[in-house]
This record gives sequence, structure tokens and C-alpha cells, in this order.
Amino acid sequence: MSKLTAAITAVGGYVPDFVLSNKVLETMVDTNDEWITTRTGIKERRILKDKDKGTSFLAIKAAEDLIQKSGVNPAEIDMVLLATTTPDMPVAATAVYVATQIGAVNAFAYDLQAACSSFLYGMSTAAAYVQSGRYKKVLLIGADKMSSIIDYTDRATCIIFGDGAGAALFEPNEEGLGLQDEILRSDGIGREFLKIEAGGSLLPPSHETIDNGQHYVHQDGKTVFKYAVSNMADVSERIMQRNDLGHDDVNWLIAHQANRRIIDATASRMNLDESKVLINIEKYGNTTSATLPLLLNDFEHLFKKGDNLIFASFGGGFTWGSIYLKWAYDKK
Ligand code: UT7
Repeated sequence: MSKLTAAITAVGGYVPDFVLSNKVLETMVDTNDEWITTRTGIKERRILKDKDKGTSFLAIKAAEDLIQKSGVNPAEIDMVLLATTTPDMPVAATAVYVATQIGAVNAFAYDLQAACSSFLYGMSTAAAYVQSGRYKKVLLIGADKMSSIIDYTDRATCIIFGDGAGAALFEPNEEGLGLQDEILRSDGIGREFLKIEAGGSLLPPSHETIDNGQHYVHQDGKTVFKYAVSNMADVSERIMQRNDLGHDDVNWLIAHQANRRIIDATASRMNLDESKVLINIEKYGNTTSATLPLLLNDFEHLFKKGDNLIFASFGGGFTWGSIYLKWAYDKK
């Protein structure tokens, strides 16, 4: 009997309608379109404006898109994993609410948080559950309402992030397609350089933390950039080497969309042709847990059964890694 692998069998996505362009940001902070475009590759990002809607709204929309397109019966989903850094509430897990809302009434559900690598790590988790033979349909959603934790007077962060969600269904595969290999890494040195300081057990929220803006994301961009460039390129190159993949063997690079220059540096180390490097950062900015599944959703029409996809991410923590996955279907 062939080894059971875990393949992605359907994808979905959602971004809110409201577009926050570089031009509008110019009126909010001391920045300009030229700086943002050349330093990051971002032109605009989507923002969930409704004050009464949280990350669950985005996640539900992405999951519903997947369900509608694939025809999967939500009652047959065994498990819902929500990769997110911006849960609706600290307690209870947002995934549980999402599962109920989409009709995944027989599933168990929980959240998974590893900053910008949440979805990549979630791919490993989802695949492991499927490969174990214990569960047959695992829905992995990556969703973040980054606008809820961004200070729109801080030009170092407000130009980067956007809101969005994407979803992928993992199922068993007996043709050897799906997840082939992974390199997942982390280093606690990173927590000084990209963080929300207050609101957790170390520094519970208070009037003082609010006054100090410690409930917002703070990033030492230059330092994070340095670590991101070298680490993301390292693991992507290594996963190719250890699977004997030359640059011709790789069909697509699905890289976390944090900065166009980081993606280009990774692609260059992998010696990949530009046409294989999938990019949508110009439209959405950095949607944290949603960048990888939004790429899958936007470019699904290009993928052919058997294509070799290399995923790569780097994020706060620090957390980073690379996954090698064989695509399992041609889009109908
Ligand atoms: O997704 C999670 C992981 N995160 C990342 O991977 C992000 C990694 N970091 C980055 O992408 C980049 O560091 C940034 C896009 C955040 C910043 O780009 P940079 O090229 O590293 O710029 P910098 O921070 O070194 O700043 C260069 C200059 C500074 O001015 P001086 O000191 O040279 O006069 C900044 O004050 O640009 C200035 N600056 C800006 N100017 C216009 C910083 N932000 C802005 C801005 N508009 N928004």
C-alpha cells in the first residue's frame, strides 16, 4: 500500500471591499507612494471597516468561498484550524465560533498563533492529522484583521499591513501528492523586534498600557528585515537541496508577502525564474496569516496536478520555515 500523504484539495479566499491606498496613507502619516512602493512593493491594502466585525467574519467568508467552490459538505469536516494573530477575543478560540457558523457541526476546532508563519505551521499540523489516518477532512484557515492592532499614526507599521483571509482543505491522497517535506524553525530572540507588548499575561491591559500605545504592533523593521532575508532564503534553498529539486523542478514559489524585496531575495537564492514567483502584495499588503492561502486562491488557476510548490514564510517570534508540496488537482 502506498504511503498516505495529505494534499490540498480545495482553496478559498476573502478580502474586505474597502481599499486603503498609498495615496490615502500620504494624508494620514508622513510617507509617500514612491517610498512605500520601492521599499515594500505595496500599493494598497484592504481594511475591514465594520467596527462590529472581527477576524471570524473574514475567516467565515473565506471558508464559505471554499465550501461553495468545492461543494464539500461542512458536516463532513473533521477539524477546523484557524491560523491567526488577531483572534476575535483572547478567550474563547475564534476557530470554534467559525466552525459552528460554517456548519462544521461535527468538527473540533482551535486557533494556532505563530505570527506571520501561522499558516505555514498550520499546514504542517493539518497534514500531520491527515497523515496519521485519524481525520480525513481538515480545514485550515488563515485570517487576520491586522487593522485592529495597527496604530494609524505610526508610519513604520501602518503602511505594511492589511486585512484578509484564505482557506485550504487537507485530505488524504494515495498518489503521493500533497505535503512532501518541511523545515520549520523558531528563535525567541525575535520577540524584542516585533511585538504587541501589552494585553497578555506579562503585561495585562491597563489605562497606562493604552496611553503608551502598547496594545499596537511595534516593529524594528530593519532588524526583522535582516533576519527575514537570510532565514527565509536559507530554508527555501535547503528544502530544494534535500529533495533534489533544481530550479527547473520548482513550478511555483508561494512566499509570505511581507516585503517584495524579501521575496525577491529568496527567489534569487533559489535561482528561480521571475515567472514562478507569485506576488499579490501590491493589492493586499501583509495580511499576516492570510498571505499564503490568498496566494493559493488568487493563482489556483495556474496550478497543475503534480506541480512542485515551495512555500516559505518568516514572521514575529521569530518563526520561519519552508514546505515542499505537490499540487493535487487541475482546476475545473
Ligand atoms: O511579516 C512579518 C515580518 N516582517 C517583515 O518581514 C518586515 C521586515 N521589514 C521591512 O519590510 C522593512 O524594514 C520596512 C518596510 C518595514 C522598512 O523599510 P527599510 O528599508 O528597512 O526602511 P528603514 O526602516 O531602514 O527606514 C529608512 C528611512 C528612515 O529614514 P532615515 O533615518 O534614513 O532618515 C525612516 O525613518 O525611511 C524612513 N521611513 C519612512 N519614510 C517614508 C520609515 N518608514 C517610512 C515611511 N515613509 N512609511
